Amino acid sequence: MAGKEPVVYIDGEYYPKENAKISVYDHGLLYGDGVFEGIRSYNGIVFHLRDHIERLYEGLRVTRINVSLSKEEMMNVVVETLRRNNLSDAYIRLVITRGRGNLGLDPRSSPKPSVIIMTEPVALAQGKEAREKGKTAIISSYRRDMVDGTSHELKSLNYIQSVLSKFQAIDAGTDEVVMLDHRGMVSEFHGSNLFLVKQGILHTPTSAAGILHGVTRARVLKLADELGSEARERDITPYELITADEVFLTGTLAEIVPIVKIQGVPIGDGKPGPVTREIIRAFQRITQDPKEGTLIREPLPVQARTRSN
Ligand SMILES: Cc1ncc(COP(=O)(O)O)c(C=O)c1O
Repeated sequence: MAGKEPVVYIDGEYYPKENAKISVYDHGLLYGDGVFEGIRSYNGIVFHLRDHIERLYEGLRVTRINVSLSKEEMMNVVVETLRRNNLSDAYIRLVITRGRGNLGLDPRSSPKPSVIIMTEPVALAQGKEAREKGKTAIISSYRRDMVDGTSHELKSLNYIQSVLSKFQAIDAGTDEVVMLDHRGMVSEFHGSNLFLVKQGILHTPTSAAGILHGVTRARVLKLADELGSEARERDITPYELITADEVFLTGTLAEIVPIVKIQGVPIGDGKPGPVTREIIRAFQRITQDPKEGTLIREPLPVQARTRSN
Protein backbone atom coordinates (compact mmCIF):
# COMPACT_ATOMS: atom_id res chain seq x y z
CA MET A 1 0.00 0.00 0.00
CA ALA A 2 3.11 2.24 -0.20
CA GLY A 3 2.29 5.76 -1.35
CA LYS A 4 -1.42 5.25 -0.78
CA GLU A 5 -3.31 7.79 1.29
CA PRO A 6 -3.55 6.76 4.97
CA VAL A 7 -6.95 5.68 6.23
CA VAL A 8 -8.50 6.70 9.54
CA TYR A 9 -11.01 4.63 11.49
CA ILE A 10 -14.10 6.53 12.61
CA ASP A 11 -17.03 4.68 14.17
CA GLY A 12 -16.70 1.44 12.23
CA GLU A 13 -15.68 2.93 8.85
CA TYR A 14 -12.29 3.66 7.29
CA TYR A 15 -11.93 7.07 5.63
CA PRO A 16 -9.06 8.49 3.55
CA LYS A 17 -7.12 10.94 5.77
CA GLU A 18 -8.44 13.98 3.86
CA ASN A 19 -12.05 12.93 4.45
CA ALA A 20 -11.62 11.84 8.08
CA LYS A 21 -13.92 14.33 9.83
CA ILE A 22 -16.22 14.52 12.81
CA SER A 23 -18.95 17.01 13.70
CA VAL A 24 -18.16 20.49 15.02
CA TYR A 25 -20.90 19.71 17.56
CA ASP A 26 -18.81 16.91 19.06
CA HIS A 27 -18.27 17.59 22.76
CA GLY A 28 -14.67 16.45 22.38
CA LEU A 29 -14.13 19.68 20.46
CA LEU A 30 -16.57 21.88 22.39
CA TYR A 31 -15.56 20.80 25.92
CA GLY A 32 -12.46 18.61 25.70
CA ASP A 33 -14.91 15.90 26.76
CA GLY A 34 -13.16 12.66 25.87
CA VAL A 35 -10.15 10.44 26.49
CA PHE A 36 -7.28 9.24 24.35
CA GLU A 37 -4.29 6.96 24.06
CA GLY A 38 -0.96 7.30 22.28
CA ILE A 39 0.30 3.82 21.37
CA ARG A 40 3.40 2.58 19.56
CA SER A 41 4.10 -0.44 17.41
CA TYR A 42 7.56 -1.83 16.78
CA ASN A 43 8.38 -4.29 14.03
CA GLY A 44 4.79 -5.48 13.79
CA ILE A 45 4.21 -5.68 17.56
CA VAL A 46 1.85 -3.19 19.24
CA PHE A 47 3.73 -2.46 22.44
CA HIS A 48 1.65 -3.21 25.55
CA LEU A 49 -1.59 -2.65 23.65
CA ARG A 50 -3.59 -4.32 26.40
CA ASP A 51 -2.25 -1.90 29.04
CA HIS A 52 -3.23 1.08 26.88
CA ILE A 53 -6.72 -0.35 26.37
CA GLU A 54 -7.09 -1.01 30.13
CA ARG A 55 -6.12 2.61 30.88
CA LEU A 56 -8.49 3.86 28.18
CA TYR A 57 -11.42 1.91 29.62
CA GLU A 58 -10.61 3.19 33.12
CA GLY A 59 -10.88 6.70 31.68
CA LEU A 60 -14.16 5.79 29.99
CA ARG A 61 -15.53 4.58 33.34
CA VAL A 62 -14.52 7.78 35.12
CA THR A 63 -15.97 10.00 32.39
CA ARG A 64 -19.04 7.75 32.01
CA ILE A 65 -18.60 7.45 28.25
CA ASN A 66 -20.21 4.21 27.11
CA VAL A 67 -18.64 2.72 24.00
CA SER A 68 -20.31 -0.29 22.40
CA LEU A 69 -16.96 -1.97 21.58
CA SER A 70 -15.54 -4.45 24.07
CA LYS A 71 -11.85 -4.18 25.01
CA GLU A 72 -11.09 -7.12 22.68
CA GLU A 73 -12.93 -5.44 19.81
CA MET A 74 -11.10 -2.17 20.48
CA MET A 75 -7.77 -4.01 20.32
CA ASN A 76 -8.84 -5.64 17.07
CA VAL A 77 -9.74 -2.34 15.38
CA VAL A 78 -6.39 -0.85 16.40
CA VAL A 79 -4.60 -3.80 14.79
CA GLU A 80 -6.88 -3.73 11.74
CA THR A 81 -6.22 0.02 11.22
CA LEU A 82 -2.47 -0.69 11.25
CA ARG A 83 -2.95 -3.53 8.76
CA ARG A 84 -5.01 -1.39 6.41
CA ASN A 85 -2.28 1.26 6.51
CA ASN A 86 0.37 -1.41 5.97
CA LEU A 87 2.32 -0.20 9.02
CA SER A 88 4.62 -2.09 11.34
CA ASP A 89 6.59 0.71 13.06
CA ALA A 90 3.93 3.24 13.88
CA TYR A 91 2.40 5.72 16.27
CA ILE A 92 -1.29 5.19 16.95
CA ARG A 93 -3.66 7.82 18.30
CA LEU A 94 -6.89 6.40 19.67
CA VAL A 95 -9.42 9.08 20.61
CA ILE A 96 -12.85 8.62 22.13
CA THR A 97 -15.04 11.67 22.47
CA ARG A 98 -18.42 12.18 24.12
CA GLY A 99 -19.83 12.49 20.60
CA ARG A 100 -22.17 14.90 18.85
CA GLY A 101 -24.55 16.83 21.06
CA ASN A 102 -26.02 20.31 21.30
CA LEU A 103 -24.10 23.44 22.34
CA GLY A 104 -24.89 22.97 26.04
CA LEU A 105 -22.45 21.22 28.35
CA ASP A 106 -24.91 18.51 29.48
CA PRO A 107 -23.30 15.21 28.43
CA ARG A 108 -26.74 13.64 28.06
CA SER A 109 -27.21 15.47 24.72
CA SER A 110 -24.46 13.26 23.24
CA PRO A 111 -25.75 9.69 23.33
CA LYS A 112 -23.19 8.19 20.94
CA PRO A 113 -19.42 8.50 21.51
CA SER A 114 -17.05 8.91 18.56
CA VAL A 115 -14.23 6.37 18.25
CA ILE A 116 -11.30 7.55 16.13
CA ILE A 117 -8.03 5.78 15.29
CA MET A 118 -5.23 7.55 13.44
CA THR A 119 -1.90 5.92 12.60
CA GLU A 120 1.34 7.18 11.15
CA PRO A 121 4.73 5.65 10.41
CA VAL A 122 7.64 6.21 12.81
CA ALA A 123 11.15 6.25 11.38
CA LEU A 124 13.56 3.74 12.89
CA ALA A 125 16.00 6.54 13.73
CA GLN A 126 13.29 8.49 15.57
CA GLY A 127 14.65 9.98 18.80
CA LYS A 128 18.24 8.81 18.22
CA GLU A 129 19.77 12.25 18.62
CA ALA A 130 17.78 12.98 21.79
CA ARG A 131 18.84 9.62 23.29
CA GLU A 132 22.48 10.31 22.54
CA LYS A 133 22.71 13.99 23.50
CA GLY A 134 19.89 14.36 25.99
CA LYS A 135 17.43 17.23 26.32
CA THR A 136 17.07 20.33 28.48
CA ALA A 137 14.16 21.39 30.68
CA ILE A 138 12.81 24.15 32.87
CA ILE A 139 10.29 23.90 35.70
CA SER A 140 6.83 25.20 34.81
CA SER A 141 5.15 27.88 36.89
CA TYR A 142 1.82 26.11 36.24
CA ARG A 143 1.00 23.38 38.76
CA ARG A 144 -0.51 19.99 37.92
CA ASP A 145 -4.12 19.82 39.05
CA MET A 146 -5.06 18.38 42.44
CA VAL A 147 -5.88 14.67 42.34
CA ASP A 148 -9.43 15.36 43.50
CA GLY A 149 -10.19 17.42 40.39
CA THR A 150 -9.25 17.04 36.74
CA SER A 151 -6.19 15.03 37.68
CA HIS A 152 -3.76 14.04 34.95
CA GLU A 153 -4.31 10.47 36.08
CA LEU A 154 -7.17 10.74 33.59
CA LYS A 155 -5.78 10.95 30.05
CA SER A 156 -8.48 13.37 28.93
CA LEU A 157 -8.60 15.67 25.91
CA ASN A 158 -7.74 18.54 28.25
CA TYR A 159 -4.05 19.29 27.74
CA ILE A 160 -4.17 23.08 27.90
CA GLN A 161 -1.99 23.19 31.04
CA SER A 162 0.66 21.13 29.25
CA VAL A 163 0.36 23.33 26.15
CA LEU A 164 0.85 26.53 28.19
CA SER A 165 3.81 24.92 29.94
CA LYS A 166 5.32 23.92 26.61
CA PHE A 167 5.16 27.61 25.63
CA GLN A 168 7.23 28.37 28.72
CA ALA A 169 9.81 25.84 27.53
CA ILE A 170 9.80 27.36 24.05
CA ASP A 171 10.22 30.88 25.47
CA ALA A 172 13.10 29.67 27.66
CA GLY A 173 14.75 27.84 24.74
CA THR A 174 14.48 24.38 26.35
CA ASP A 175 12.97 21.17 24.96
CA GLU A 176 10.96 19.96 27.93
CA VAL A 177 9.17 21.29 30.99
CA VAL A 178 8.80 19.74 34.44
CA MET A 179 5.41 20.08 36.14
CA LEU A 180 5.17 20.36 39.94
CA ASP A 181 2.08 19.30 41.85
CA HIS A 182 -0.01 21.64 44.03
CA ARG A 183 2.38 21.07 46.98
CA GLY A 184 5.46 21.95 44.95
CA MET A 185 6.61 18.33 44.62
CA VAL A 186 7.84 17.05 41.28
CA SER A 187 5.03 15.48 39.24
CA GLU A 188 5.99 14.69 35.62
CA PHE A 189 6.95 16.37 32.36
CA HIS A 190 4.26 18.11 30.28
CA GLY A 191 3.80 14.96 28.17
CA SER A 192 5.85 12.23 29.81
CA ASN A 193 6.82 10.71 33.17
CA LEU A 194 9.96 11.48 35.15
CA PHE A 195 12.69 9.39 36.76
CA LEU A 196 15.85 10.40 38.55
CA VAL A 197 18.89 8.37 39.54
CA LYS A 198 20.76 9.06 42.77
CA GLN A 199 23.64 6.85 43.88
CA GLY A 200 22.50 4.11 41.51
CA ILE A 201 18.90 4.04 42.80
CA LEU A 202 15.95 5.03 40.59
CA HIS A 203 13.30 7.35 41.99
CA THR A 204 9.99 8.40 40.42
CA PRO A 205 7.00 10.38 41.76
CA THR A 206 3.92 8.47 42.94
CA SER A 207 0.39 8.85 41.59
CA ALA A 208 -0.33 11.16 44.57
CA ALA A 209 1.64 13.80 42.63
CA GLY A 210 -1.04 13.82 39.90
CA ILE A 211 0.95 11.92 37.28
CA LEU A 212 -0.42 9.97 34.37
CA HIS A 213 -0.05 6.24 35.08
CA GLY A 214 2.38 5.86 32.20
CA VAL A 215 2.65 2.54 30.39
CA THR A 216 6.34 3.20 29.72
CA ARG A 217 6.89 4.21 33.36
CA ALA A 218 5.38 0.93 34.57
CA ARG A 219 7.53 -1.08 32.17
CA VAL A 220 10.67 0.81 33.24
CA LEU A 221 9.92 0.07 36.91
CA LYS A 222 9.65 -3.63 36.03
CA LEU A 223 12.77 -3.40 33.91
CA ALA A 224 14.74 -1.91 36.81
CA ASP A 225 13.71 -4.93 38.86
CA GLU A 226 14.77 -7.29 36.06
CA LEU A 227 18.15 -5.53 35.85
CA GLY A 228 18.60 -5.83 39.61
CA SER A 229 18.38 -2.06 40.20
CA GLU A 230 16.42 -0.64 43.09
CA ALA A 231 13.52 1.68 42.15
CA ARG A 232 11.49 3.77 44.61
CA GLU A 233 8.19 5.56 44.04
CA ARG A 234 8.16 8.56 46.38
CA ASP A 235 7.74 12.33 46.71
CA ILE A 236 10.59 14.23 45.05
CA THR A 237 11.43 17.87 45.73
CA PRO A 238 12.71 20.22 42.99
CA TYR A 239 16.00 20.38 44.92
CA GLU A 240 16.37 16.60 44.74
CA LEU A 241 15.59 16.73 41.05
CA ILE A 242 18.24 19.28 40.22
CA THR A 243 20.89 17.62 42.38
CA ALA A 244 20.22 14.14 40.93
CA ASP A 245 23.01 12.20 39.22
CA GLU A 246 20.77 11.46 36.23
CA VAL A 247 17.26 12.38 35.09
CA PHE A 248 15.27 10.86 32.26
CA LEU A 249 11.76 10.97 30.86
CA THR A 250 9.56 8.09 29.74
CA GLY A 251 6.71 8.14 27.25
CA THR A 252 5.26 6.07 24.44
CA LEU A 253 6.50 8.15 21.52
CA ALA A 254 9.60 9.65 23.15
CA GLU A 255 10.50 6.29 24.75
CA ILE A 256 13.36 7.12 27.19
CA VAL A 257 15.24 10.39 26.89
CA PRO A 258 18.03 11.65 29.18
CA ILE A 259 17.56 15.16 30.60
CA VAL A 260 20.94 16.81 30.94
CA LYS A 261 20.09 20.31 32.20
CA ILE A 262 17.23 21.69 34.33
CA GLN A 263 16.77 25.41 35.11
CA GLY A 264 20.20 26.01 33.58
CA VAL A 265 21.87 23.57 36.01
CA PRO A 266 23.70 20.57 34.48
CA ILE A 267 22.39 17.23 35.78
CA GLY A 268 25.36 15.15 36.98
CA ASP A 269 28.15 15.87 34.53
CA GLY A 270 25.69 17.27 31.97
CA LYS A 271 25.73 14.15 29.79
CA PRO A 272 23.44 11.09 29.58
CA GLY A 273 24.47 8.88 32.51
CA PRO A 274 25.30 5.16 32.66
CA VAL A 275 22.07 4.01 34.34
CA THR A 276 19.93 5.89 31.80
CA ARG A 277 21.95 4.46 28.92
CA GLU A 278 21.57 0.94 30.28
CA ILE A 279 17.79 1.39 30.63
CA ILE A 280 17.58 2.76 27.07
CA ARG A 281 19.45 -0.25 25.68
CA ALA A 282 17.34 -2.74 27.63
CA PHE A 283 14.11 -0.96 26.68
CA GLN A 284 15.00 -1.05 23.00
CA ARG A 285 15.51 -4.79 23.27
CA ILE A 286 12.14 -5.43 24.87
CA THR A 287 10.25 -3.37 22.26
CA GLN A 288 11.28 -6.07 19.75
CA ASP A 289 9.95 -8.91 21.91
CA PRO A 290 6.61 -10.37 20.72
CA LYS A 291 5.77 -11.20 24.36
CA GLU A 292 5.65 -7.45 25.08
CA GLY A 293 2.71 -6.74 22.84
CA THR A 294 0.11 -7.72 20.28
CA LEU A 295 1.12 -8.93 16.83
CA ILE A 296 -0.06 -7.08 13.73
CA ARG A 297 1.52 -9.77 11.60
CA GLU A 298 4.64 -11.88 11.93
CA PRO A 299 7.62 -9.60 12.76
CA LEU A 300 10.92 -9.59 10.86
CA PRO A 301 13.92 -11.09 12.66
CA VAL A 302 15.56 -8.37 14.76
CA GLN A 303 18.90 -8.66 12.94
CA ALA A 304 17.17 -7.90 9.62
CA ARG A 305 16.34 -4.44 10.92
CA THR A 306 18.59 -1.44 10.90
CA ARG A 307 17.65 0.37 14.06
CA SER A 308 20.75 2.02 15.38
CA ASN A 309 21.68 2.70 19.02
C1 LIG B 1 1.04 13.94 30.71
C2 LIG B 1 1.66 12.64 30.34
N1 LIG B 1 2.39 11.98 31.25
C3 LIG B 1 3.00 10.80 30.96
C4 LIG B 1 2.90 10.23 29.70
C5 LIG B 1 3.58 8.94 29.40
O1 LIG B 1 2.67 7.88 29.37
P1 LIG B 1 2.90 6.60 28.46
O2 LIG B 1 4.21 6.00 28.86
O3 LIG B 1 1.74 5.71 28.76
O4 LIG B 1 2.93 7.07 27.03
C6 LIG B 1 2.14 10.88 28.72
C7 LIG B 1 2.00 10.27 27.39
O5 LIG B 1 1.24 10.62 26.57
C8 LIG B 1 1.50 12.11 29.04
O6 LIG B 1 0.78 12.77 28.13
